[in-house]
Formats: sequence, structure tokens, C-alpha cells
Amino acid sequence: MAKKHSAHEPLLLNLTDVEKPPRVGPPAIVNWVLNIVMWLLFIFWVVIIFASPSEFAEKFTRNLTGATSGSIFGLTGSIFLVYSGPILAVVFLGIASLIIAGEKKLQLKKPSKYPRFRLRTFPILVDGPFGVVSAAEFIGICVFVVFLFWAVYGYTLQNLNLISELQVPSESKGIVMLELSGLRFGSIGLYFLAFLFLPITRGSVLLSIIDIPFEQATRYHVWLGHLTMFVFTLHGLFYLIAWGLQGRLLQEILEWKDFGVANLPGVISLLAGLLMWVTSLSPVRKKQFELFFYTHQLYIVFVIFLALHVGDFVFSIAAGGIFLFVIDRFLRFCQSRRTVDVISATCLPGGTVELVFSKPSNLQYNALSFVFLQIRELSWLQWHPFSVSSSPLAGKNHVSVLIKVLGEWTAKLRGNVSDMSSAEGEKELPNQSCSNITASVEGPYGHELPYHLTYENLILVAGGIGISPFLAILSDILHLTKEGKPCVPKNVLVIWAIKKSDELPLLSTLNVESICPNFSEKLNLEVSVYVTRESVPPLEEGKFYEGISSVMSPPSKGSPMSVLVGTGNRVWSGVYVISSVVGFAILMALLDIFYINPLNIVSWWYKGLLFVGCMFASVIIFGGPVIYLWHLWEKRIQNMEESADARKDDVLQHSASVNLTQDNLVPKDHAISRRMYYGARPNFKEIFTSVSERWGNVDVGIILCGPETLQSSVARECRSQNLRRGSLRPVFHFNSHSFDL
Ligand SMILES: Cc1cc2nc3c(=O)[nH]c(=O)nc-3n(C[C@H](O)[C@H](O)[C@H](O)COP(=O)(O)OP(=O)(O)OC[C@H]3O[C@@H](n4cnc5c(N)ncnc54)[C@H](O)[C@@H]3O)c2cc1C
Ligand SMILES: NC(=O)c1ccc[n+]([C@@H]2O[C@H](COP(=O)([O-])OP(=O)(O)OC[C@H]3O[C@@H](n4cnc5c(N)ncnc54)[C@H](OP(=O)(O)O)[C@@H]3O)[C@@H](O)[C@H]2O)c1
Repeated sequence: MAKKHSAHEPLLLNLTDVEKPPRVGPPAIVNWVLNIVMWLLFIFWVVIIFASPSEFAEKFTRNLTGATSGSIFGLTGSIFLVYSGPILAVVFLGIASLIIAGEKKLQLKKPSKYPRFRLRTFPILVDGPFGVVSAAEFIGICVFVVFLFWAVYGYTLQNLNLISELQVPSESKGIVMLELSGLRFGSIGLYFLAFLFLPITRGSVLLSIIDIPFEQATRYHVWLGHLTMFVFTLHGLFYLIAWGLQGRLLQEILEWKDFGVANLPGVISLLAGLLMWVTSLSPVRKKQFELFFYTHQLYIVFVIFLALHVGDFVFSIAAGGIFLFVIDRFLRFCQSRRTVDVISATCLPGGTVELVFSKPSNLQYNALSFVFLQIRELSWLQWHPFSVSSSPLAGKNHVSVLIKVLGEWTAKLRGNVSDMSSAEGEKELPNQSCSNITASVEGPYGHELPYHLTYENLILVAGGIGISPFLAILSDILHLTKEGKPCVPKNVLVIWAIKKSDELPLLSTLNVESICPNFSEKLNLEVSVYVTRESVPPLEEGKFYEGISSVMSPPSKGSPMSVLVGTGNRVWSGVYVISSVVGFAILMALLDIFYINPLNIVSWWYKGLLFVGCMFASVIIFGGPVIYLWHLWEKRIQNMEESADARKDDVLQHSASVNLTQDNLVPKDHAISRRMYYGARPNFKEIFTSVSERWGNVDVGIILCGPETLQSSVARECRSQNLRRGSLRPVFHFNSHSFDL
């Protein structure tokens, strides 16, 4: 008989199964085979790209493209198949794998009896331009850097051979070499471009199957972006120098020829890329985020003019990743159109606001997820990311975020919420709606798996508002502990550094005893708070609980978050991706049969434009109807739920569990007990050494959410403890939740 689950099990349905040996039935075998094929295809794709500068690979791809060039898709189709086909095939298989795995993907592995290092959680570099870098990331960086040097070396040899074969006169050799090198750098840039868009495809199947959250993947996009732009800049520079030496700089820059590479679109594309590059450098991005963000929208110019520059068949080398990004971007656009009900908005002390959004029960997230938020009263263009602070186990119909005032947008939000609450107080109208907040929400994104549950021993290190995801994690753990689920962390140490004690009430928002009475019998939860910029406790503890004001919406208004997101429903999002890709093939075929071939269109730039046009059109024409049907399905499901009642229950449940009244925020017995330290930062050497002695030879998961300096300190200590590790000491696994994109 099927096992029944409680209403609070939307995410971790089968957690109890982890104790049993994994069931090896047909789906498990199919998934296993799918995973192997996916990895083989992915490796094939990477090898094809990375081996391209070698003469052997050039011959191989020439044969491969030759074998398929008789088709209606021509040379472009063949190159697309070889360079972009494998990654699209990986996505197709990934969709199948995620669908087959279904809820089983959420089963978590039993913690290993024998602690061991993992490449993904072993910090190798902790300072420097890359920030904290794990061993796996370090290998990735090395692969790309080695490829760059190897490609430059390989292409230089080829250039020298070509020059001697063509018997170039010695006075022109330098210029020809410059032009050939420029051309080769262009090719290397295209190979990097094939990867560049993959990490920023937010709802991507690829990120889900390897469980890399979007905010972490953004780092890889940044690194790849630097590399790509460095190489493309050399590409442009070499040509400019060569043309300058020949005295035909302007003439060449303005050239837009039909047959062959058109220079002017290339110059425009490069200029757009350079603007994006300069404004994305860390000092600009940190100080002028909006300047960076708006300039980055030039990626559309960059891509379109690149296609005009190189034409369709060269562009198709990098087209796979770009196409997947376009598919995801259109879905994001559709999801983010909807305005979402704000169930409640609360001003907390320490400049923090809590917003609670309505969500359909079938939109799943986990404690490590985050969402992008737009508030139309503040800005129509800005979307800000925030971690969820609620656990999915605390209610199926809401999701909450904690927002700290940091800059203009967050300050305006707090102002709006506080104005609303004062207006409500003056009018004495209970349940006035959050009418000053017209919100749209995009997501959830983030980790596919709630990996915090794989560690029996956890250290959560937070700096300031970095406590937000840990409130969700703690709530998760407490709910599971209450339900007696196995595989839940048994030892949890929370280290929280805050500047001032007025941030303390955030911790009290988690009503531990109401979630899990007598939790201390099953869970060893220790909390140490370091108030770094106050040397003594405040005289009146109650003083920092002032300024709490809350406004609640009536539960019947508006709509919940939309499930139209890559992570929202794998079947629908899979059908959407597949139909867009198949639609692209159909459009390209129709174009070739009815337009390009009969009219003998040969202009490279024009064919490049048609290629990009087909990419966009296929997403709208073929993917669009799928999204529409998905939307109808979503509405039907929502109508079937008694949403108003469910929402009402959730509001009540939420208020009860988070305890947001002024009175309740004063720490009492039921709040988490904590050790307080004033005027000092946490000393991680001491803390980790003490943990080592107490916990012994086990795996310890460290999850960090805080400023970069805190990340480096913790990663450095984690690395040092691991390197000095004795046989009876733990292995520390470093995991970071970054609030910096
Ligand atoms: C994955 C993730 C999760 C986050 N979770 C939380 C959270 O739970 N609670 C919380 O208070 N803050 C969180 N942040 C930080 C939050 O997004 C920023 O504090 C907020 O966007 C600042 O906006 P502002 O205009 O008020 O400040 P500004 O002064 O404009 O910006 C301050 C800094 O915030 C960053 N930032 C600004 N706008 C954006 C944006 N649109 N997208 C990404 N970063 C931006 C920039 O690094 C900037 O330097 C998170 C960030 C990320 C990337
Ligand atoms: N992109 C940005 O420009 C930007 C700016 C601010 C925040 N953020 C993001 O927002 C998050 C939280 O911000 P916040 O303003 O709430 O944090 P915060 O108020 O700055 O608090 C951070 C706390 O961590 C402590 N800390 C910093 N480095 C440490 C170290 N090496 N060792 C021990 N303690 C350390 C600080 O101590 P001290 O008081 O001694 O410094 C402070 O108490 C961060 O994760 C950050 O990524 C981003």
C-alpha cells in the first residue's frame, strides 16, 4: 500500500526511504543509463570544442560536417549539429532524467560512515581575484587556462606553416601573421562563447542535474566572461594594428561585405562587449550595480551583431548555449509578468523588512532557494534577488523573504512598508491590503537538493542578513526532527556575526518550540552570536525591539506566484524546451527550402541575421503555445484548490510560527538559546578546533552566508583544519551561499 505523507511534506516526501537500500527498478536503471550517456555526450562536446585548434580535430570535424552537408540544413546545419547538437542532446536527456527521477531526485544520500574529502567542498584558494575556489572549480579554471595556452600555441604553429606554404614575401609576413593571429583569437573567443551563456540560464536543466545553483554559476559566467572578452579584445586589436600598419584602418572598420566576414558589425559587437566588460568589473559592479546591469543588456546587440559579423555557419559553433539562454529568458519574461499577492509586510528592527508572498502548493522550493523580486512602486526595471527565509515544510502556500536595507531600493521598500503600517494604524483598519506593494516574483532558483540535510553535523556561519537562509534551514531541520525523519542533522552550530544588537530579533523570529517542542532531546542546537561593534550588551534589552510594524493583506485578493519557471514543473518546462528546439529546426528547414535555396541567398551577414531571427522566432512560435497551455493547466489546478482557505490557513500558520509581534520578539524560553559575545569577531581557529575535539572523526558541513571577508576567513580555517587533520578529526566541507552576483 502506498505510504501516506503529512501535509507538510511537499519537498522531502521520501526522506524516510534513505534508510532503506535504494530500490533498483527500471526507472533507476534507465536513469543510470541516461546519466552515463549525458556525461559521455557532454565530454564529447567539450573535447570537440577544446580539440578544435588541432589539425587532427579540424580534419575530424571536416569529415563529420562533410557527412551531413548534403541535408537541407547545409553546412550551417552540420556545424550546428557537431558543435551545438551535443549540448542540446544533453539537455533533452537531462529533462528525461529529471522527469523519471521525479520525487526520487529529492531523496538524499545517507551520510557516509567514513569521512572523506570532496572536490566540490574543499577550498583550495581563499584569497585573490577568484575569491574562495574549491578544488573542483580550480580544476575547471586550469582546464580553460591550459586550453587557452594550448590553442594559442597550436594556432601559432598552424599560422607559421600557412605563411611558409603560401610563400608570403618577407616584408608582409608580420602583417599576415598579425591578421592570422587575430583570426585565430576570434575562433578561440567563439569556443569560450559556447560556454558563456550556460551558467546564467537560470532555470536550466544543466544546472539542476549537476546541482549548481544559479548564484554560484554566475561566478563561472563572470570568469568565462573575462576570458572571452580578453580573447575577443586581442582578436580586434590584432586586426586594428594590422590594418593600421597597412594604412587602411577606417576603410576596413567600415567595410560591410556580403561574402565573407563583415567588419563593421564585428566592431559594433566588440564595442558592446567591451562596454559590458568594463562595467562588470568588480569595483563598478559593486558601487554602481544598475550601471552594470543596464549596460549588460547590450548582450542582445553583442549577439546579433556577432551573427552579422561571422555569418550563420560560424555563429552556429556557439549557438547552442545562446539558444538555451534565449529559451530560458522568454520563460522568465512570461513568469515575471504576473503580480503576486503579498500576504504580509513587516518592518523589523535593524532595518529589515519581511515580505510573505502567496504561492501555489505545486510550486516547490527548498530552504536554499532564492527568488528575484520586482516592486513596481519602486522601479519597473529592477529585479533584486533574495533568499527564502521560510521552510517549505512550514506551509505550502506561502514563501517569505527577509530584506535588509542596504541601498536605495531596499531603503525605499522599507519606507513604503512603514508608511503602510502607519496609515493602517491611523485609520485603525485591520487587514488593510499591502496596496503600496505591487510585487512580481521570479523563481525559485537555487540548489536542486536541500543538501544541508546530508550532513549530520552542521556549522552555519552567517554575517548580518546572511542569517536569512539559515532561518529557513533551521526551520526545515526542526520540522523534520519533529516528524522523526532520519538523516536530519543531529549537531548544529550557528555562528552569527552582527554589527549591532538591533539585528538580534531576526533570530527570535524562529519560534523553535512551536515548531518542534522539546527539540533539545533530539537535536543539539548551539547558537553563538558575535556583536562586533558593541562592546557591552545594551542596557535595556527591549529597546531594539521597537519599530516593529506589520501590515497584512486580506487572504482573498490577487494571484499567487506563477509556476511558469524552469524549476516549476519539469514536464511542462521540458516540453517547452524541446518544442522550441524542434521548432528551430523546422523553421531553419522551411527557410532553406522556401527562401534561401530558391533565391540563392549567399550573403553571410544576412544569413547570420536569419539564423538568429529563427532562434528568437522558434521560441515564441513553438514555445509560446506550450507556455500558454501550461498557464491554462496552472489555472485549472489553482481553481481546483480552495486557494482562499488555504491562504488564510497559511497566513495564520505563518504568523504563529514566526512570532512577529513586538512582545514575542523579546527572547523567551521558547526562542533559540544563545551565547552572546560583544566587541569581538568570531575566532574560527578556536571554534573549529573545539568542534574537532568534540565531534571527532565525522563529516562536518559548513554553510556560509555573509560578506566576502567572512567567506575567506572561514574557508581559510576550513582548509587549514583539513590539511592538518589527524585521523580522529573531522573533515570540514565548505559550502557558500553568496549574496553577491
Ligand atoms: C542570491 C542572493 C540572495 C540574496 N539574499 C538576500 C536576502 O535574503 N536578504 C537581503 O537583505 N539581501 C539579500 N541579497 C542581497 C540583495 O539582493 C541586495 O542587498 C539588494 O539587491 C540591494 O539593493 P539596493 O538597491 O538596496 O542596494 P544597492 O546599494 O543598489 O546595492 C548594494 C549591493 O547589492 C548588490 N545588488 C544591488 N542590486 C542588485 C540586484 N538587482 N541583483 C543582485 N545584486 C544586487 C550589489 O552588489 C550592490 O553592490 C541577496 C543577493 C543574492 C545575489
Ligand atoms: N555587494 C556589496 O557591496 C554588499 C554590501 C553589503 C552586503 N552585501 C551582502 O549582504 C550580506 C550581509 O550584509 P550585511 O550588511 O547584513 O552584513 P554586515 O552588517 O556587514 O555584517 C557582517 C558581520 O560579519 C562580520 N565579519 C565580516 N568579516 C568577518 C571576518 N572575516 N571574520 C569574522 N567576522 C566578520 C562583521 O564584523 P565587523 O563589524 O567587524 O566588520 C559583521 O559583524 C553579505 O553576505 C554581503 O554579501 C553585499
